[in-house]
Amino acid sequence: MSNIDQIPVRVTAIKQVAPLIKEFTLEPQDGLLTPFSPGAHIVVEMVSTGSGTDKHSYRNAYSLMSDPLDSRQYRIAVRLQDDSRGGSVYMHQQVEVGTQLKISPPANLFAPEWMAKKHVLFAGGVGITPFLSYLPELQQRQAEFELHYMYRSKQTGAYSAELQENLGSGCSCYDADLGNRCDIAAVMSGQPLGTHFYICGPEALIDAVRATADGMGVPASAIHWEEFAGAKPGLPFVVELSRSGAELAVAADSSLLETLESADINVPNLCRAGVCGQCVCDVAEGEVEHRDSYLSDREKQSGQVMMPCVSRAAGDRLVLDI
Ligand code: FES
Repeated sequence: MSNIDQIPVRVTAIKQVAPLIKEFTLEPQDGLLTPFSPGAHIVVEMVSTGSGTDKHSYRNAYSLMSDPLDSRQYRIAVRLQDDSRGGSVYMHQQVEVGTQLKISPPANLFAPEWMAKKHVLFAGGVGITPFLSYLPELQQRQAEFELHYMYRSKQTGAYSAELQENLGSGCSCYDADLGNRCDIAAVMSGQPLGTHFYICGPEALIDAVRATADGMGVPASAIHWEEFAGAKPGLPFVVELSRSGAELAVAADSSLLETLESADINVPNLCRAGVCGQCVCDVAEGEVEHRDSYLSDREKQSGQVMMPCVSRAAGDRLVLDI
């Protein structure tokens, strides 16, 4: 998000909804927020307290889980990540009711395919959040759907009771801490022609559903997924911008995109997770450690382009053609 796109909001409620998940309600400083489409996300900018080099800003994408038509507030849920660069720790430990944050306008890379005959939703842990924003419209359209929600109650089992109450037999919950597992192949087989499948959760769940779909001959166009893995930490390096000659230090826990943004260099971006292709940058020199799932193997091998939201230098220096 460019700085002019940023919307100032205030945290008006925080709920611990599972041992590792907190839910945050965000309200605008003034006026109303824009309605959004089901499956949309926002980017939250967090500036940690501290001064000088201790001051750190993170920008993480979170799915909106509130009713898309409710412009008074947005709600997001944040899982405390095991390998957090600091963003989820900041949200869990430093954000309080009254904290002011800046967010991007909503963007959507995971909208339902409304032409589908039926919608089958697979959620893993905090991956339930985009589906919570699907539900009002699925219900209002009287669309045929079923939700399969996998979690560990000792860590991430938020909203399961409400969902079961709201959806009845339309929601199947699988608590791995109780030994309950979802038989993905059994769920997928026997669905009517024209069913679309949606997955949000850990990479392993996405891979498992995609592999099952592949084995069953489900067309790729009927499979939709959203990973919520953002940038991961790495070794620090220096990036040089060839057009201005400027040099920026990319810290171990900052992404290259965040570093560029902190220097007021706006790079278009949507997912901040290496999947949408928006942030592509030309590389003039240096080796890249590609961590995205957008570029083809050939593009990665060419060494000429990279996705700075997740990818980093493979060495201690990189020159970008910007
Ligand atoms: S912002 Fe989507 S790939 Fe980088």
